[in-house]
Amino acid sequence: MESPLALAARLAEGTCAGPGNAYRSGLGQFMTPPRVASLLADMFASVGGDVRLLDLGAGVGSLTAAFVEKVLACECKPRSLQLTAWEVEEAFIEPLERVLEECVEAGRAAGVPTSYVLNRGDALRGAVELLEEDELFAIPRGLRGFTHAIMNPPYRKINADSEARLLLRRSGLETSNLYPGFLWLAARLLEPNGQVVAITPRSFCNGPYFLPFREQFFGLMSVERLHVFDQRNALFAGDDVLQENLIMVARRGAKPPASVVLSSSDGLPSGNGRVRSVPYSRVLDPADSDKVVHLALDASYDDARAAVMGLPAHLSDLDFGVSTGRVVDFRARDFLRKAPSDDTVPLIYPMHFNGGCVHWPCFDARKPNALLAVPETEELMVPNGVYVLVKRFTAKEERRRVVATVFRPEGNLAGFASVGFENHLNYFHHRGGGLDDRLAEGLAVFLNSTVVDAFFRQFSGHTQVNATDLRNLRYPTKGQLCKLAESKAAGSLDQAAIDSAVGTMLQKSRH
Ligand SMILES: C[S@@+](CC[C@H](N)C(=O)[O-])C[C@H]1O[C@@H](n2cnc3c(N)ncnc32)[C@H](O)[C@@H]1O
Repeated sequence: MESPLALAARLAEGTCAGPGNAYRSGLGQFMTPPRVASLLADMFASVGGDVRLLDLGAGVGSLTAAFVEKVLACECKPRSLQLTAWEVEEAFIEPLERVLEECVEAGRAAGVPTSYVLNRGDALRGAVELLEEDELFAIPRGLRGFTHAIMNPPYRKINADSEARLLLRRSGLETSNLYPGFLWLAARLLEPNGQVVAITPRSFCNGPYFLPFREQFFGLMSVERLHVFDQRNALFAGDDVLQENLIMVARRGAKPPASVVLSSSDGLPSGNGRVRSVPYSRVLDPADSDKVVHLALDASYDDARAAVMGLPAHLSDLDFGVSTGRVVDFRARDFLRKAPSDDTVPLIYPMHFNGGCVHWPCFDARKPNALLAVPETEELMVPNGVYVLVKRFTAKEERRRVVATVFRPEGNLAGFASVGFENHLNYFHHRGGGLDDRLAEGLAVFLNSTVVDAFFRQFSGHTQVNATDLRNLRYPTKGQLCKLAESKAAGSLDQAAIDSAVGTMLQKSRH
């Protein structure tokens, strides 16, 4: 007899979104490969008693099938199994039903009464209506809630005026992406103590866009385990998935556990990986109003955190600010120019800085080099001066996540009253204007160090370096920045020299 998971894998191959087939971004359809589905199922703690499983956005049912296989193989089997799946894609309904039937059959063979409910249609609407109905009739969650939820929710941006956005708002969550919405609704549908295991992008771990989600979700749920995949593409081989993924295990309502298990694997069948257990507050610091999720996967991260967060200065102590470049090119299209002229100012993109300094203009790429200086663009410009620029987008595989360069009004950039920084970069400034040259030089050395990078990587799962994240770092004092500016590392690309200068500064800072 074919197992439910084997059947789901075979049926997934036959669908438009099966592994190896093209991604259908409209519905966020990446099917979970069987070995990853089993990995998720294995992460549930206990599966005794009457189990009610929820699978929102079930696809052809791979996750439910993996769960059923796992619990039926346990020595201590559940008393009964009720499976609830939701799926909007019509093409998946028939295969999903076949997989659910197979699950019922497997349950019968194992002596565990198993039933299923297959909901066709929008899971958001269905879940929100269910929650509202329970509220209306004051039905306690313990009565109708699910004991377990397993999910690989769709990843898709949702517009401000979309139905999905409005539905989620009705359920108490403001989000611009579908996957936090699915996680939130699953959490709300769980009974007290119920557990969710979900595979999602890492992007929710930090950044302002996901803050409302983190506040809501972690107000309801305690995280128990986080599993990270070291390689981005190994997981959904064949699909063009560029997200970094993680598996989160969380429990509803429970007092946070003393510790959280952090693990990682390469996502390949070989399953190489690391596991460690860290105090809960090391992952979600109760004092952190940004609710950033830290993934300190090994002890070196602890050292990096202790070193950076042990530094004496906040950005405000230095009287520095950090902002995102104001020129959003598609909004300012009419004012952008390929070549500079008398009525323009320099427009700086990340492409202008490589090799440790700013090269402007650059005609090799298609991007513009100049911004028309007219009243409409006044707000987009900053006074020409010394700034530290940090790229907003770098890949995990790049040598460093945080890449900083000093911008100076010299050479081709001299003589302009103002400049424009494009939105793909962050800039450090002094009250909106330029920085002292030496402090800027020292700041760039600090930001380019391995220790800052290691600290940053444990919470920045996605490829974005947010201004908020930079704002929340701790910094050396002005005196220490000047020392860094005087070191051999200043203006250098030599990582060893940078790390040695920052290492010496940190050592002295500790004494
Ligand atoms: C990332 S896929 C995962 C599928 C399956 N859970 C798995 O792991 O193989 C997300 C699934 O959610 C479904 N989906 C997207 N939007 C949905 C919605 N609003 N309601 C229900 N299902 C939805 C997609 O059709 C797709 O099957």
